[in-house]
Amino acid sequence: MSAAKEARPTSGGPYRAFDAGKTHPSRRYDYWLGGKDNFAADRASGDQIADAFPTVRQAAIENRRFLQRAVSYLVRDAGITQFLDLGTGIPTSPNVHEIAQGIAPTARIVYVDHDPMVVVHGRALTTSTPEGATAYLHGDLREPETILDHPVLAEVLDLDRPIGLLLVAVLHFLTDADAPYDVVDHLVEALPAGSFLAISHATLDPLPADTAERLSALAAPGAGHGAFRFRTRAEVSRFLDGLDLVEPGLTPIVEWCPEAYPRPEATVAETAGYVAVARVP
Ligand SMILES: C[S@@+](CC[C@H](N)C(=O)[O-])C[C@H]1O[C@@H](n2cnc3c(N)ncnc32)[C@H](O)[C@@H]1O
Repeated sequence: MSAAKEARPTSGGPYRAFDAGKTHPSRRYDYWLGGKDNFAADRASGDQIADAFPTVRQAAIENRRFLQRAVSYLVRDAGITQFLDLGTGIPTSPNVHEIAQGIAPTARIVYVDHDPMVVVHGRALTTSTPEGATAYLHGDLREPETILDHPVLAEVLDLDRPIGLLLVAVLHFLTDADAPYDVVDHLVEALPAGSFLAISHATLDPLPADTAERLSALAAPGAGHGAFRFRTRAEVSRFLDGLDLVEPGLTPIVEWCPEAYPRPEATVAETAGYVAVARVP
């Protein structure tokens, strides 16, 4: 198979028109990261959230730094060379394949997102070393079976060998009605023993009460910023039930392996998120 592949959608259709008049998480995140793939609605929403939580841009940058540390750890220390990156976002360098293939050129990565805008950038996600492989699937995390059953997944990843499942800054877009714990269980059950799960998740835990109140109001249904569910440490921990946590465990973003590259440069309250890497026994 060729090293790079763009796959047909798992459901819906990747090329259906997107609504530039409504904010979308991928484009708002792109705005905070200094990207150019966002519209006025994303910038307006991003600015309103930044007004309530002024360090949100730092939080996004630190989330990317965690992603780099976690993928580097998984390749270098855990020997993982296959990744399923769900909720990958508009490509932001270094992407997972750039990090993983920089260490292990044979690494194989399947990217998934439900934002049509990410499809537009699929080419950036489907470059690859000649020895490795990448693919992009348009799919919805809330329908894990459509992702797991997609033929390209099995073409690119060897489902009998350990896989690194990345759910980075995506689970907080699943409300309780989306049964997020069932979704994660479903995905993890499909992974062979020795696979890993890496997550990051927004929280209100370290924030002053007034900031937490303002952010809760912005995340409420009908507030115009899309579905969002902050979770407490205990609620995030539930996603890891039955898995073996890698040291240092479930921590604030900036406290996960802070000596590794790229080192965090912000505080717990500035980033307000939990992260973990865990092994599937
Ligand atoms: C904040 S970005 C995170 C991007 C990347 N994982 C990172 O951490 O840098 C969240 C991404 O998840 C995607 N997303 C949100 N809900 C999703 C769903 N139900 N299925 C697939 N992707 C989803 C959004 O489109 C967006 O691109």
